[in-house]
Amino acid sequence: SDKYAVFGNPIAHSLSPLIHTFFANTLNEDIEYGRVLVEDGGFVKAAEAFKASGGKGFNVTAPCKIDAFNFVDKLSDAAKTAGAVNTVKFTSDGVLGDNTDGVGFISDLKRLQVKLEGADVLLIGAGGAAQGILYPLVKSEAAKITVVNRTASKALSLAQKVNSDKVEAKGFDSLCGDFSIIINASSSSLFKELPPLDDSFIKKAEFVYDLAYTKEGSTVFTQKAQSLGVSSAFDGLGMLIMQAAASYEIWRGVCPDVEATITYMRSVLS
Ligand code: ATR
Repeated sequence: SDKYAVFGNPIAHSLSPLIHTFFANTLNEDIEYGRVLVEDGGFVKAAEAFKASGGKGFNVTAPCKIDAFNFVDKLSDAAKTAGAVNTVKFTSDGVLGDNTDGVGFISDLKRLQVKLEGADVLLIGAGGAAQGILYPLVKSEAAKITVVNRTASKALSLAQKVNSDKVEAKGFDSLCGDFSIIINASSSSLFKELPPLDDSFIKKAEFVYDLAYTKEGSTVFTQKAQSLGVSSAFDGLGMLIMQAAASYEIWRGVCPDVEATITYMRSVLS
């Protein structure tokens, strides 16, 4: 069977092996998908060893996406834009590096029938997760993206990086305006905390999305939005599965059933 894996540190809790094995099972394909714990400074050695053992490709998660970017021979446009690689494919032409995080995010918004055209988007957070989705948002049909972060200076440096007149940076204190779409890309939900966002912004939103996910499909943030009357509030499991499906397609040329995988993953999460 063809061999794949996910590289990162920590890696024990990665759901990628479950997701990709389910993809393969439902497509009647035979693959093996493992986890590789990458020691500090050990990325290249681990990648070479995996290739030597017959690996066809691998996914990359924190903190190795830049190492992967530097490792590959050829970069896709998405990887170049992101400055990071989450999908590596070994081919006879060399090692390809791609990035499916952006397309996974945008595809999930489409799946949830979000209207990006002309939207005023509020993006909460300015860490790695926020950075990964800011570029795809800028390239989308959204009219404006306001990045707000607890540490306002980090929102500013993230906005400066993308250098687009569609992007504005704010602290929570100076936030103003109406946002039809609110995306929580901060890690607040992982700590069962809420970002210091005034209820009035949430009440006016048509759509709320949290990159964090849970078995139940709701996070503290989506629950808050629902309690304030926002009926379209979703967690980020769909995005995780969409980016995995895009990687699977890069490797194997076939597209897995995303809805079936979401249902399956909700059933196995704890
Ligand atoms: P990730 O890779 O998940 O993006 P990160 O790079 O450590 O993780 O970034 C975490 C982000 O979540 C930051 O924007 C952080 O805000 P600060 O820059 O002010 O630290 C944000 N964050 C974490 N906990 C938060 C909370 N309780 N409320 C609001 N923002 C929070």
